[in-house]
Amino acid sequence: MTDLLSTLDLDRLRSRTSAKWRVYGPDVLPLWVAEMDVPLAEPIVRAVSDLVASGDTGYPAAPDEYVAAFSAFAAARWGWQVDTSLARVVPDILAGLSAVIEATTDRGDTILVPSPVYGPFFRNPRLQGRVVEPVALTADGRLDVPSLETAFAAAVAHGRRAAVLLSNPHNPTGAVHTRGELEALAAAAARHGVVVISDEAHAPLVHDGATFVPYVGVDPRGFSVLSAAKTWNLAGFKAAVVVAGTDAREIVESFPVTLFNSVGHVSLVAQAAAFRDGEPWLDELLPALTRSRDLLADLVAEHLPHARMQLPESTYLAWVDLSAYGAGDNPAAQILERGRVALSAGTDFGPGGEGHVRVNFATHPEILTEAVQRIAGALA
Ligand SMILES: Cc1ncc(COP(=O)(O)O)c(C=O)c1O
Repeated sequence: MTDLLSTLDLDRLRSRTSAKWRVYGPDVLPLWVAEMDVPLAEPIVRAVSDLVASGDTGYPAAPDEYVAAFSAFAAARWGWQVDTSLARVVPDILAGLSAVIEATTDRGDTILVPSPVYGPFFRNPRLQGRVVEPVALTADGRLDVPSLETAFAAAVAHGRRAAVLLSNPHNPTGAVHTRGELEALAAAAARHGVVVISDEAHAPLVHDGATFVPYVGVDPRGFSVLSAAKTWNLAGFKAAVVVAGTDAREIVESFPVTLFNSVGHVSLVAQAAAFRDGEPWLDELLPALTRSRDLLADLVAEHLPHARMQLPESTYLAWVDLSAYGAGDNPAAQILERGRVALSAGTDFGPGGEGHVRVNFATHPEILTEAVQRIAGALA
């Protein structure tokens, strides 16, 4: 069956110059960074090509078209009526998270992160002088709200402010937080005056059976940060939007105007085309991702019988526990060295990541199959 993941073979992918395909040598199968091995959606190709062909590559005008395209997508996809006066365009998701952290906490304050989680959640707040406090996810990779609440109480002692960085859906476990989980988190955060900043980078990439809930829909004091980059494979066209809850307007209004100076015109146009005209492509992509996820689960069961892998409810990333293979805290190192497959090391995701790897399954089924065989060989 030809689908978006089986269109590009290894030879064509090797000619790519982005990080996924260039960081490692030509003998390595790269299943690490969150890029997908797919052709771009036609409306995005057209929008970017038109700009380039006409030399229309200057500074961005007001971000209104981007915000309008995003909010129309959010309404159609999730029934989320975004109040666009609460939305601010920022250079990328991480810049949006940092801007909210800067505006809601001080140096020395605590940023709580449900762990294991996307590595920059640890690194970036530390660069801002914040103290990062991991709070373990439950054994099945979900939010542990009672433990978070205990950590909230400690973080705000002595008059300190605190925030929690939420990955919604969660990278790397793929958990799509339910409305009930988010409401419990919002209530706990409100009791302690903690701010919740929700990174919704993977929001549209939800497999059948789970439903994404935008965080600001359950918490007027919170923030949702989204972009088209993960869903339409546009990491090379950076832009994102921060949406404040209805009680947090003054925070986005306090963002420095210089933040928008780092947003690129071509990026805004590419991402706006994705939100506006990219839904048919997304609807074609999702079943292909689900098939690839299920193929990976079958391959793991066959070749790595001692591994533990839960089917992710979202994303094209699988979180696999390889600790039974005795390759130490970082099996990705042994797999790269002996098997020539690049995976994301579990230890990059903080406490709880030991013995794990993150596998990017947004690739050709033949590549995925060979990669798992090589991984099994490397761990044998
Ligand atoms: C959870 C999460 N947040 C943010 C990003 C990066 O987004 P950006 O490049 O827009 O900062 C990624 C990329 O993989 C991600 O997985």
